[in-house]
Amino acid sequence: MHAMTEQFMHNAYAGESMAHMRYLVYADAAEKEGFKNVARLFRAVAFAEEVHASGHMRRAPKKGGAVAAEAPFGVGKTAENLAVAVAGETFEVEEMYPVYMETAKLQGEKLAFSSFEWAYKAEKVHQKMYEEAKGLVDNGKDWRDSKVQICSTCGWTVEGEAPDACPVCGAKKSAFRAF
Ligand SMILES: [Fe+2]
Ligand SMILES: [Fe+2]
Repeated sequence: MHAMTEQFMHNAYAGESMAHMRYLVYADAAEKEGFKNVARLFRAVAFAEEVHASGHMRRAPKKGGAVAAEAPFGVGKTAENLAVAVAGETFEVEEMYPVYMETAKLQGEKLAFSSFEWAYKAEKVHQKMYEEAKGLVDNGKDWRDSKVQICSTCGWTVEGEAPDACPVCGAKKSAFRAF
């Protein structure tokens, strides 16, 4: 794998790993504040980030050394945590993944490209869901009591029923995990 694409796979792995953990911590905080549907949303999206992190790791060459990413640290009130979550997803959608995808394409790294693209498409959904949840929590309301479905192959995320086939990776309905 070309060095720059490989570096971006490491960065993406590190960023997704920390997002996964951060959202689980935020879920517990939301639960304690009485926002049980926001907690469920955080847990669903945490699983999507786990799918992305493990996908990036499996598709990059095996290697030792440090992987790192800049990431927010600490936990606040749910409204603040959602603001951090929106900012993180927005950065991934507007800056990080577009640059990573272009680099992988330029370097002819097809596997890395699809790994980045799968994440990019899910992060766009996460950004919208978190924005909406933040609007509700800012007004003292919980998120909707509706299912959030995550494709366990690519991390794509949808509210309500899972489709017969994932629109991003083509996985079957049975590949979706409901939260
Ligand atoms: Fe995300
Ligand atoms: Fe999928």
